[in-house]
Amino acid sequence: MTTPQCDLGMIGLGVMGSNLVLNMADHGFTIAGYDAQAEKGEALRAQQHPRVRVVDNLPELLAALKPPRRVMLMVPAGKPVDSVIQTLLPQHAPGDIVIDGGNSHFTDTNARQQQLAAQQVDFLGVGISGGEEGARRGPCIMPGGAPAAYRQVQAIFEAIAAHVADEPCVTYLGPGSAGHYVKMVHNGIEYGVMEIIAESYDLLKRGLGFTNDALQALYAEWSAAELNGFLLEITATIFQKQDPLTGGRLIDQIRDVARQKGTGMWASQDAMSLHAPVPLIDTAVEMRDLSALESERNTARKLLGGPAMAPIAKRAAFVGQLRGAVYGAMLLAYAQGMRQLYAASATYHYALPLGRIARIWRGGCIIRASLLEKISAAYEHDAQLVNPLFDGDIAREVTARQQDLRAVVAQAAQWGIPTAALSSALAYYDALRSPSLPTNLIQAQRDFFGAHTYERIDREGVFHTEWEG
Ligand code: 6PG
Repeated sequence: MTTPQCDLGMIGLGVMGSNLVLNMADHGFTIAGYDAQAEKGEALRAQQHPRVRVVDNLPELLAALKPPRRVMLMVPAGKPVDSVIQTLLPQHAPGDIVIDGGNSHFTDTNARQQQLAAQQVDFLGVGISGGEEGARRGPCIMPGGAPAAYRQVQAIFEAIAAHVADEPCVTYLGPGSAGHYVKMVHNGIEYGVMEIIAESYDLLKRGLGFTNDALQALYAEWSAAELNGFLLEITATIFQKQDPLTGGRLIDQIRDVARQKGTGMWASQDAMSLHAPVPLIDTAVEMRDLSALESERNTARKLLGGPAMAPIAKRAAFVGQLRGAVYGAMLLAYAQGMRQLYAASATYHYALPLGRIARIWRGGCIIRASLLEKISAAYEHDAQLVNPLFDGDIAREVTARQQDLRAVVAQAAQWGIPTAALSSALAYYDALRSPSLPTNLIQAQRDFFGAHTYERIDREGVFHTEWEG
């Protein structure tokens, strides 16, 4: 029997798994890989990387690993993860470390940690962002679990992660499911930012009649400055792409039905149970769902009237306002996500390093953007910041764009173009800053019909009133 030589075993050699293996191998680690679908193993073997060993079954994979045996799963979230764990369980030895690098729901991660702990096996829940290119060249990695287990994979993760100014885009985030929780909120912000950009596209295209070339040029210009970020950069590129089938632009041939795997929805659902409102993220999830109700949209189109779309005189001024509105709304999307992490950190005892999360998101991940520099600076001033909006610089940045948001939302309403995320961003901003909210009336109504009681502004205690008579 040969001495085990491999630093890590990868189960699941799809796009993400095989690219992570190659990335690790390029950084000097020796990796064993296995996939139940033999052709995926063959595809990786064909790369002939000297430090990659593709094996044909799980016992062979485990036998190839140096202690402590590190096994990483890159299989689809849900049942496939449990089925691999079930198969591995009888073969595990105390001290083994299992790493789930998929988009697993954080409650599943908690359950799996407990299940494996019974066998003295550590389970790390690790969010990985950046898609195929990120996996190969440097992803953002969001790990959670037992700190001692993390130390056993830290060197590998730090080597393969994206780097921003020599800082790896990975950091230990906390116990339990902290890593998968942070990745879930990352995806919630991702949905929010994508919806904001999509709404700006609708306004430019239907409102101002921008061509695809003009859209490409504008988004490229925006991404060169304060709005710089991965999602805006790819947006510019998308408008250039030719469709080989029609000879036109591909974007115009894509059905307007947004799909999802569910991670943004999970963020929204959990924010609601934490009572940590993320209305912009909720709206982004809902707009994807609404877009998918195709037959209802077809029915509604014939029944529901709208305004005539009058052209506007000050087009350049409107484009400038839109730029400000998009930036302001993006800051609000990140702020809502960070606020959710603040709540989750306390409720789930993660003790999340909020500032370091903003720092690792600056590279490798889908939501990387220049504005994260400002957000991470805000946590450097105050590590316990409840909401990034409470930082003086960020508050000034958003306040400077509030008139732009108002102008854009008002014009969109005049045109009848839905801007759910931009409007929601503005409503969140105004709700936070309003000296009073009309929720005194809601309390009165609750007390009226259900004797649910209310509190008074002028004295302590709870009160009930017989409202009639
Ligand atoms: C990432 C992405 C990645 C994936 C999303 C897509 O960070 O690399 O978020 O995890 O692209 O799961 O999500 P939807 O299919 O839900 O849009």
